[in-house]
Amino acid sequence: MIALNDFKAEPEALRQAELQAVERVLRSGWYVLGPEVKAFEAGWAAACGTAHAVGVANGMDAIEIGLRALDIGPGDEVITTSMTAFATVLAILRAGATPVLADIDPATALLDRASVQRCVGPRTKALLLVHLYGQVRDLDGWDAWARDAGVLLLEDCAQAHLAAWNGRPAGSVGRFGAYSFYPTKNLGAIGDAGAIVTGDDALAERARMLRNYGQSTRYVHVAEGLNSRLDELQAALLQARQQWLVEFTRRRQDIAGRYRAAIRNPRIGLLAAPAQPDSHAHHLFVVTTPEREALMAHLQAQGVQSLIHYPIPVHLQAPCVSLARDPLGLAATERHADTCLSIPCHPQMTDADADRVAEALNRYGAH
Ligand SMILES: Cc1ncc(COP(=O)(O)O)c(C=O)c1O
Repeated sequence: MIALNDFKAEPEALRQAELQAVERVLRSGWYVLGPEVKAFEAGWAAACGTAHAVGVANGMDAIEIGLRALDIGPGDEVITTSMTAFATVLAILRAGATPVLADIDPATALLDRASVQRCVGPRTKALLLVHLYGQVRDLDGWDAWARDAGVLLLEDCAQAHLAAWNGRPAGSVGRFGAYSFYPTKNLGAIGDAGAIVTGDDALAERARMLRNYGQSTRYVHVAEGLNSRLDELQAALLQARQQWLVEFTRRRQDIAGRYRAAIRNPRIGLLAAPAQPDSHAHHLFVVTTPEREALMAHLQAQGVQSLIHYPIPVHLQAPCVSLARDPLGLAATERHADTCLSIPCHPQMTDADADRVAEALNRYGAH
């Protein structure tokens, strides 16, 4: 079976580096928010081209803490997409702010400018872009739009490690970028982890305070923070794994290129090609088809795993059915949720694996 992820097939050199990282931490006697976290934060900020990275417990907390550090909360509206992980919107709700859901451009499944515009109101404080599937697109345009609209641009980069627009990495254009290092992400920990990246000194300082019970100096609490500390073990493992991230990302991009060249089945659609060579980190490779169940069964029979990201958009999830949204509705989001399908695209795949997946897709429906 060609699976969506295959961690057991990762290089032995990476395993050895990870084992050394674990040993280093175990023998150090320091397990939470210590030198490994500092070193990882410095390395991740450098990769993102930002002055700061603040390690936190997961990607959802990164968004919540970023919002709270900017004082975005009760009474404030944050526009975002319904075609995302539930955590994006849950983080806005947990910050006490009001999510407003805009529709997507069906060509990319990213936010649609006209729909976002329709969601703007007097209480709009921020636009939270989600770099879905690893795509960043038109960050300059969004930056200019946000300035004109008088709202803050924020980035959910959970799927877009190392993706860049005009040389500017994901997370470096908005006021902050929120990263997840959940194990399946392009840079994944061996457990949960996340980070906020920002060029804003004050925001970084507030985020550091909020992640640790709102503590400014030892035993002095200046805000109702949370416990969202990053541990030394994950930070050490992330440093080891980051060494491979450029190579692994290139591999994902190669596989995606192979798929684009090879998949030609009129029943299967592709999303728009990346607009720039580095603008897509290919966290997921997504095709569309109105015959999804049949295609999934066919792929399964051919030894190819597939999954759906995401089958139920946020606005159709029980806690979110009455959330504010584009007054014209979210038809493109609903259509995408009904037709999208993720096929394997991970760095341990061989060219032969990718060709097998493409052939299986091309054979679908052939008699
Ligand atoms: C787009 C997006 N935002 C936020 C998150 C939340 O990250 P985490 O699972 O680390 O809390 C994820 C990951 O699931 C995600 O894919």
